[in-house]
Amino acid sequence: MTVLEKLKQRRAIRQYEQKPVEREKIEQLLQAATYAPNDRMREPWHFYVLQGESLKRYEEMAAAYLEERFPTKPQLVASSLAVVQTTPLVIVVTADTVEGDEAATKDNEFAVCSAIMSMWLTAEELGLGFVWRTRGVGLVHDERMHQFIGAQDNQRVIGTLFIGYPAETPTADKKRTHFSEKTTWL
Ligand SMILES: Cc1cc2nc3c(=O)[nH]c(=O)nc-3n(C[C@H](O)[C@H](O)[C@H](O)COP(=O)(O)O)c2cc1C
Repeated sequence: MTVLEKLKQRRAIRQYEQKPVEREKIEQLLQAATYAPNDRMREPWHFYVLQGESLKRYEEMAAAYLEERFPTKPQLVASSLAVVQTTPLVIVVTADTVEGDEAATKDNEFAVCSAIMSMWLTAEELGLGFVWRTRGVGLVHDERMHQFIGAQDNQRVIGTLFIGYPAETPTADKKRTHFSEKTTWL
């Protein structure tokens, strides 16, 4: 399969079998991430792997967040929590900040985004479903996640990756605007 075909095939998978992901496969995802391009070889990524007991603690943290955010919407809280309860593996990825250098900090974030994309494609090759979450239980934009994983002050959370053996096959077409509408040839 060509790279373009692989890219066309890649999908966000949000439902998983209740089966653990083997350590060897997790290590392959992490290894794939480290080959991503990165400015001046700062290798600005760090991975926090959550399974089993640590995922249970994540669920408790997410419950507190959701109940506080949606106090009048218990159904929304329950359905959002179910997402965590039914995911066998979560990897939180951070990017290092560079003190006093916002440009370098941004470049570090771009590098981590590239690393996450490498993980996504590798996950598919390993037969795993994968989605990068930022909103809701992804908690990327909430300080609680930073504290929960025990990140350093110079680390920013970029992605919360939900991973597991897929229990869904996306049926809807993968719709994208043709590149001609997004391109200016100068
Ligand atoms: C930076 C980023 C943040 C995302 N955050 C969420 C999220 O919080 N929740 C979610 O369900 N999907 C999230 N997604 C997945 C997108 O919804 C998904 O990629 C999009 O619908 C396109 O579908 P596809 O990946 O199958 O092509 C995110 C994707 C990216 C790249």
